[in-house]
Amino acid sequence: MTRIAVTGALGRMGTLIIQEAARAKDVQLVAGFDVTGAGKPLLGGIPVTDARLLGDTLKEIKPDVLIDFTIAKAAVENVCLAAALGIDLVVGTTGFSADQQTRMRSAIEGHVAAVISPNFSMGINVFWKLVVQEAASLKDYDIEIIEAHHNQKKDAPSGTALATVEVIKKALGEKDVVFGREGLAPRGKEIGVHAVRGGDIVGDHIVLLAGTGERLEIKHQAHSRTAFASGAVRAAQWVKGRSPGIYSMADVLESK
Ligand SMILES: NC(=O)c1ccc[n+]([C@@H]2O[C@H](COP(=O)([O-])OP(=O)(O)OC[C@H]3O[C@@H](n4cnc5c(N)ncnc54)[C@H](O)[C@@H]3O)[C@@H](O)[C@H]2O)c1
Repeated sequence: MTRIAVTGALGRMGTLIIQEAARAKDVQLVAGFDVTGAGKPLLGGIPVTDARLLGDTLKEIKPDVLIDFTIAKAAVENVCLAAALGIDLVVGTTGFSADQQTRMRSAIEGHVAAVISPNFSMGINVFWKLVVQEAASLKDYDIEIIEAHHNQKKDAPSGTALATVEVIKKALGEKDVVFGREGLAPRGKEIGVHAVRGGDIVGDHIVLLAGTGERLEIKHQAHSRTAFASGAVRAAQWVKGRSPGIYSMADVLESK
């Protein structure tokens, strides 16, 4: 049995993760935290705990894994707190600064196991593999990444688009990155990254490789956040009790 706690329990992702956890075999929700709605019953009857009580409650309840889908500023504190208590982690929150990433890394390494991914869907992990393959085969083609998300998304570009940049750099070596273009903007050999925001788009990512007379597009579209939520619950089951360190969703999907 994997006993999970969720921070961001009343958010779009938190709500679905709790639903997926209720469906999963051998997963039990033992606490849900949010900054609003304290006392409100979550699926299964557990009331929302005020996020200010996170430390005391985790100490008392001792979940196996804390799943965090909040905002970057809060997630860093939540991760440091849980890691200090020896609780393994699944972190889906995006939009971390380099400093925030360093803080989380040093809190986790040598202490607990954590799966950190800007995208917990199975499809995007295959998408990244295809991107590596195509970028390596079409080395001289211009590369643009176009992502689209709903109008409530706080960070831009998406964590998935930034992870895609890193995947391409791994395949092709260091490259300049240009975020959007305006005015006189002659194209060099950079990777262009473009963020579209509107309506209730769950999450689209396109990598466009354009050469002379042709272009190739690799596209992933999430229709429902369930794709991320089920991946996060699967990651929680996988990460429990692993050796300390930071793991990716590819580690979860590829492990036997
Ligand atoms: N990794 C993935 O697969 C994936 C998929 C979708 C979204 N995301 C990311 O997950 C995050 C959450 O997305 P969302 O759409 O659910 O947002 P949301 O705004 O619907 O939910 C965030 C929730 O976190 C709560 N919160 C804020 N500070 C908190 C704190 N200190 N403690 C506890 N709860 C706190 C908010 O009140 C809110 O209920 C974003 O960073 C988003 O980019 C990741």
